[in-house]
Amino acid sequence: MKILLFGGSGQLGGELREKAKDLSFEVIAPVTKEVDISDRAQVIHLIKQVAPSVIINSAAYTAVDKAESERDRAFEINAKGPRIIGEAALEVGARVIHISTDYVFSGEASEPLDEGAKTGPINVYGESKLEGEKALQEIIPDNSLVIRTASLHGALGENFVSTMLRLFKEKESVSVVNDQVMSPTYAGWLAEVLLDLARMKDVVGLLHAAGQGAISWFDFALEIKKQSGLKCEIKPVSHTEFKRAARRPKYSALSTRALAAILGRPSISWQEGLRLHLERL
Ligand SMILES: NC(=O)c1ccc[n+]([C@@H]2O[C@H](COP(=O)([O-])OP(=O)(O)OC[C@H]3O[C@@H](n4cnc5c(N)ncnc54)[C@H](OP(=O)(O)O)[C@@H]3O)[C@@H](O)[C@H]2O)c1
Repeated sequence: MKILLFGGSGQLGGELREKAKDLSFEVIAPVTKEVDISDRAQVIHLIKQVAPSVIINSAAYTAVDKAESERDRAFEINAKGPRIIGEAALEVGARVIHISTDYVFSGEASEPLDEGAKTGPINVYGESKLEGEKALQEIIPDNSLVIRTASLHGALGENFVSTMLRLFKEKESVSVVNDQVMSPTYAGWLAEVLLDLARMKDVVGLLHAAGQGAISWFDFALEIKKQSGLKCEIKPVSHTEFKRAARRPKYSALSTRALAAILGRPSISWQEGLRLHLERL
């Protein structure tokens, strides 16, 4: 199976490239310098030239706070990009697997959100990602799959886990937000799931894929401390103590019941995802 991967240099993209190689998929992963997904001519040319069976779009504008002041660029990459990919995929008969986010939700929920839950982004990044989802569902509904994931961490990128490990070594005490709840997701696990789904041609539409559980960043930090064995005081604080440009949902944990039914196995727990991540370091 020939896979064209956008965003191969990113945190999730790197895991996808590694896992795909282990599983003997043929993967073509252009770097951003070669193909900017918001450049229609470049994307169409490449997709026609490669003629992949599956396109995985892990490329995105992911700077959540910066997006507040770079709205146009965020929409170019996160909304126009998937639209162009969808149009080109339709022409060559390729299936599209596109990665989206729990930030399409407003944060008003109190239990894990399923695929039918009402969206309502509260920041530019979330708005632009929701537009990207909608573009694919409009252009290529019968041959695309949108995967919403959350709070990614892995050995190949900068993320909450890498930041905590660094701070635990540098500081005696760190303050971590305890009033925002989400589902931490190990990128290595997600990459495997995406490649399983790449083989399942009939799976289209929208699916949530995240670590199982709903915890605050503070609780996640406590578990990172426990599993890493590092010593540092962790203080719970409200999100209002951190001045950030973008608002974040108070609660955006994802239900993975639908994914489990399709794969025939439950999602990884967030604790096990962390264990696998730390084991790799
Ligand atoms: N990180 C999270 O916590 C999280 C949570 C939920 C959902 N997601 C979603 O998961 C996906 C992967 O996230 P990630 O953490 O792996 O992100 P990442 O590490 O920031 O990687 C983003 C990738 O997109 C590429 N890219 C950016 N602009 C591009 C453009 N105009 N054209 C082509 N490629 C471009 C980057 O290439 P360069 O390196 O060349 O810039 C990089 O390879 C994204 O769709 C993101 O929205 C992430």
